[in-house]
Amino acid sequence: MCGIVGYIGKKKAEPILINGLLRLEYRGYDSAGIATMEAEGIKTIKNKGRVAGLLEIPETQKLEGTVGIAHTRWATHGKPTDINSHPHMDNQKTTAVVHNGIIENYVELKKFLNDNGYEFLSQTDTEVIPNLIHYYYEREVEKNEMAFLRSMAKAVKDLKGSFAIEVLNEDFKDKMFVIRKDSPLVIGKGEGENYISSDIPAILSFTKDFYLLDDYEFAVLSKDNIEFYDLELSKIFKQPKNITWDMSAAEKGDYADFMLKEIFEQPKSIRETIGARITKGVKTNLEELDFTKEYLNSLDRIYIVACGTAMHAGLAVRKIIEKYCRIQTEVDIASEFRYRNPLVTEKSLCIFISQSGETADTIAALKLAKAKGAKTIAISNVIGSSITNEADYSLYTHAGPEIAVASTKAYTSQIVLLAIIAIYFAELLDVAHDEIEELKSEILELPSKVEEVLRDTSKIKAFANRIFTEKNAFFIGRGIDSSVAMEGALKLKEISYIHSEAYAAGELKHGPIALIENGVTVVGIMTDEDLAPKTVSNLQEVITRGAKTFIVTNQELEHVTFDEVIRIPRISKYISPVLSVIPLQLLAYYISKEKGLDVDKPRNLAKSVTVE
Ligand code: G6P
Repeated sequence: MCGIVGYIGKKKAEPILINGLLRLEYRGYDSAGIATMEAEGIKTIKNKGRVAGLLEIPETQKLEGTVGIAHTRWATHGKPTDINSHPHMDNQKTTAVVHNGIIENYVELKKFLNDNGYEFLSQTDTEVIPNLIHYYYEREVEKNEMAFLRSMAKAVKDLKGSFAIEVLNEDFKDKMFVIRKDSPLVIGKGEGENYISSDIPAILSFTKDFYLLDDYEFAVLSKDNIEFYDLELSKIFKQPKNITWDMSAAEKGDYADFMLKEIFEQPKSIRETIGARITKGVKTNLEELDFTKEYLNSLDRIYIVACGTAMHAGLAVRKIIEKYCRIQTEVDIASEFRYRNPLVTEKSLCIFISQSGETADTIAALKLAKAKGAKTIAISNVIGSSITNEADYSLYTHAGPEIAVASTKAYTSQIVLLAIIAIYFAELLDVAHDEIEELKSEILELPSKVEEVLRDTSKIKAFANRIFTEKNAFFIGRGIDSSVAMEGALKLKEISYIHSEAYAAGELKHGPIALIENGVTVVGIMTDEDLAPKTVSNLQEVITRGAKTFIVTNQELEHVTFDEVIRIPRISKYISPVLSVIPLQLLAYYISKEKGLDVDKPRNLAKSVTVE
């Protein structure tokens, strides 16, 4: 899960590549490197640490080449060192490669290459790729572009795992070769220049026309042309997609950090997610889905499968589906689902949520569900992402690019979209007409209610200032609020490194309460009228034991004194997570800022996890 970028054109490649890398750093920031085609041959510069470090190396400024590839790394195989940084070259230094993904059989391939006289400088899986290409190219009689592509195809056929690869070779000084399988790679089409990137926002300032590659498709780029081939080297014809995102969506603007910007963007992103999808008094018609009442009635179960924050979004909506559609709904962590032989059948509907659409476990879980005959829906924020290519149906959240590693606006948009899907199902099933109409009104009011929550953040900031040096925090809630507790705890641990745990409030007394001592922070979320009194009792139990309490609620809580109470607007409990999560996002944000941490790029994490 690294970031790759490439440029071929008339301009000096280096500044364009560095600019792209800086935008892709959310994908990993253990090391960075660049290779350009110089008059004397391929020149690589790489170092451990952030992309900015490359600019401090005097040679970087001296790169004049107009063709280049670059990489920012999230280390998997081999520690983050200069040597393990990409680009990697073959032993003869004729081919340079940057790679995002994992070569699972690299040990075997390394042995094969070792036996054939190749040596390895790094501990990475990637270094086998340029050497394998070299191995096959050496055996070609005529050294021309087709022979090189054939060598790449042979090398790629040997690879097991996932990859998005960019290749430069000294014999083809004005060409760049790329191929992908299960890792993202987009091609930006310019005028007399072309671009490669792991995602669209990184190169959106240069072009709005993009080609998306399917698995095992090659592209050969020159400055004026892009040719596509399949693995058997037959030519393929592709149409570019025009992306209508505004570039400012991928810029920080006046905000200190992307995370803060994305938190404050939520009224807008939710509005975009709703779009024209629901209208009061009119049956919801999701153009992406063609389901019928009979199909829904035939379902044995709905599975919602995802990782991290996206999985929490699934937990938040499961109850709407069960309440209104009366279809049993299970929420699973993708990495567990794929290995637990789930009881998925042809009568199951499986919904996969992934902001990036590239999370390896979620994609594998989707493939498994398909193999078992289930219908699959992908919910993603990234147009053309891998998960949307695999699924039977795809729906986009349209939340705009999310850059901060910690997910915020994607979560609220996922909940809104899933709630709309639940409404679509309920209307097809012809159930709970009045309640569904009410829920639609409440969804339409969400953007303005989110604005209300964001209006004054001073109390949250002040509480963050009080607790930022602490080591532990607990998040509790019941029912839907317990799923928000999980998301709140995840946000806090991700970006502040404070150990935070979420518990269903009723579970506290079965163990975790042993950890409550004087001064420990307990965050309580209460948006469910029926359950709030019970959570209040649990909070009283921790207050008695000395806990500090931070409450997010829209209920009247009398006779109890909490350290801080953040009031949010009243709303149906089924969509309340969209509001109740916001103070928790802000709490995590302000604590991280107080600690002086890099909010957008927390240690050891990456935004899109393309490894198992
Ligand atoms: C990583 C990110 C999380 C994200 C999860 C799933 O762990 O750090 O923020 O929730 O992946 O990502 P996805 O793109 O599949 O939603």
